[in-house]
Amino acid sequence: MALPKPVKRLGKKAVDTRQVDFLSIETHSPAALLATEPQPAAAVSTWATRAATARKAARTGTFVDNLKLPIHRWFRYSAGFSAKWVESVLKDKKSLNVFDPFAGSGTTMLAADAMGVPSVGTESHPFVKRVANAKLSWNFEANTLHRAARELTDLAQAIPSAELRDPDSLIARIYTPQSLEQLERLRLAHRQLAASGTYNTHINELLWLAITAILRPCSFVGTAQWQYVLPSKTKTGNRPPLSALNAVIEQMFEDQRSVQLDGWVKQSAVVSHDARSPFGFLGNRLFDTVITSPPYPNNYDYADATRLEMTFWKDIEGWSDLQQTVRRHLMHSCSQHTAAERLNLAELLSDPIITPIYTELSAVCQRLAEIRLTKGGKKTYHTMIAAYFQDLGRIFINLRAITAPGATVCFVIGDSAPYGIHVPAERWLGELAIAAGFTDWRFEKLRDRNIKWDNRVHDVPLHEGNLWIQG
Ligand SMILES: C[S@@+](CC[C@H](N)C(=O)[O-])C[C@H]1O[C@@H](n2cnc3c(N)ncnc32)[C@H](O)[C@@H]1O
Repeated sequence: MALPKPVKRLGKKAVDTRQVDFLSIETHSPAALLATEPQPAAAVSTWATRAATARKAARTGTFVDNLKLPIHRWFRYSAGFSAKWVESVLKDKKSLNVFDPFAGSGTTMLAADAMGVPSVGTESHPFVKRVANAKLSWNFEANTLHRAARELTDLAQAIPSAELRDPDSLIARIYTPQSLEQLERLRLAHRQLAASGTYNTHINELLWLAITAILRPCSFVGTAQWQYVLPSKTKTGNRPPLSALNAVIEQMFEDQRSVQLDGWVKQSAVVSHDARSPFGFLGNRLFDTVITSPPYPNNYDYADATRLEMTFWKDIEGWSDLQQTVRRHLMHSCSQHTAAERLNLAELLSDPIITPIYTELSAVCQRLAEIRLTKGGKKTYHTMIAAYFQDLGRIFINLRAITAPGATVCFVIGDSAPYGIHVPAERWLGELAIAAGFTDWRFEKLRDRNIKWDNRVHDVPLHEGNLWIQG
C-alpha cells in the first residue's frame, strides 16, 4: 500500500489561546460523594488576597504547565487551565469543597484530589467526559492494569488480518499503513477486552485513554493536540503505536506512584451533565468554591476538535454526526451550532434571562446580523452571541442554587470580536451573575490575546483573565 497522501485542511485554526491537555474516572459514585451534609462557606478571603494569588499564578488560563504534572499530562487538552493555580486558590480560600460545571479534562477535580478537597464536576461533551473520568481513575489497581495492558497488546497481535476493516477516510489519510494496522488492531482488541468483562470499567477506560493519547503523536500530519487536524502540514517524529502505548502506560504507573507519595486523596467525580439544566443530582449539597472555565464566545468548535479521536473510535461516522452526538449537548459558543439549530435572534433576545444586558447585547447582535449579509461565509455570530449569554445566564441561576452564601466563584474567561465587533464577555457575565443572585464581581485581567496574530481579521485588543464572583 502506498503512503497515504496528505489531504486538504479539515478545519480552521483554533482561536482559543488556552494551552492545556488532560482527562479523568469515578472511583466513588457521584451519589456517594454527594451524600454529605451541606457545607458552610469557609471564611471568604478578600478581593485583595485573591488578586495577589492570581498575580502569583500568572498562567491561570494556560494548560501548558500541566504537561509536566503527573496524571494531568495523560491527555493534552488545550482548552484547560493550570492545575497549580487551582491548587493555590483552594489553599488560599481554605475550600471545603469545589464544583466545576465545565469540567473538561478534569483539572479542577485532580487539583482538588491533590489538596484533599472533595470535588464534583459536570461535563457534557461525551468524549471529554470520558477523558476526565479515565484521569480521575488515577487510583487504579496497579497489578490489574499491568495484566490488562499485556492482554490488550497480545490480543491486538492475535487479531486475524481478515478482521481488520478499511478505516474511515480521515483516519486512512493521517497514518502510515503500518501504524494504521497497529492502531486498528488495538481498537479491536480493546473492544474485545471490554466486552469480555474481565476487567472493571476503570481499567478498561484507562486502556481506552492510553490508546486515545497516542492517536495524535502517531500521526505524520499536523495534529497538534486538541486542535483541528491539519492534514496539509506534516510532522516528523511520529511514533510506532505499540512503543508509544507502552510509554503512556509506563507513565500511568510512574504518575500513580508519584501522586501517592504526594498524598493525593481520591474524592472526586465527574458527571455527564449539561450545565444548562439544574444540578438536581447534587441534592441539597452546597459548595463554597466554584473554579471553572466556560467555552469562550469565540467560535471554537469543541465538537470538531475531537473529530479525529471520535472518528477513530467510531463514535461518529463523519463531520455531520458532530451536531447530534456532541454539539447539541454543549452551550452555544460556535456558529456551526446555532446555524444547525436555526436559532431565531428575536426569540433569543426576548428571554428575560438576558434582561440585565439586553440593550448592549441586542445592539451587538443586530450589528452582527447586518454585517453577516456583507460576508461570504454569512456566519451566524448574531445568534451565537445571543445564545451564548442566554446559556450562561441560565447556568449562573443553576450555580446560585448549589453555592453557599459567601461562596467564591471563579470563571476563567476571555472576550471576543466576531466580525470585529467587540463582545465584553466578562462584564456581561458579571451582570448576569448579579441578576442570578450573586452579590459582587470583579475581573482580574491576566493577559492580552490574539495580539500577535498576523492573520487576525480585526484590530480589537482582546484579553482573558479571572472573573471573580462573590456568593
Ligand atoms: C474551557 S473547557 C474547560 C477545560 C477545563 N478547565 C480543563 O482544564 O480541562 C470548557 C468545557 O466546557 C464543556 N461544555 C460546553 N458546554 C457545556 C455544558 N452545557 N455543560 C457542561 N459542559 C459543557 C466543553 O466540552 C469543554 O470541555
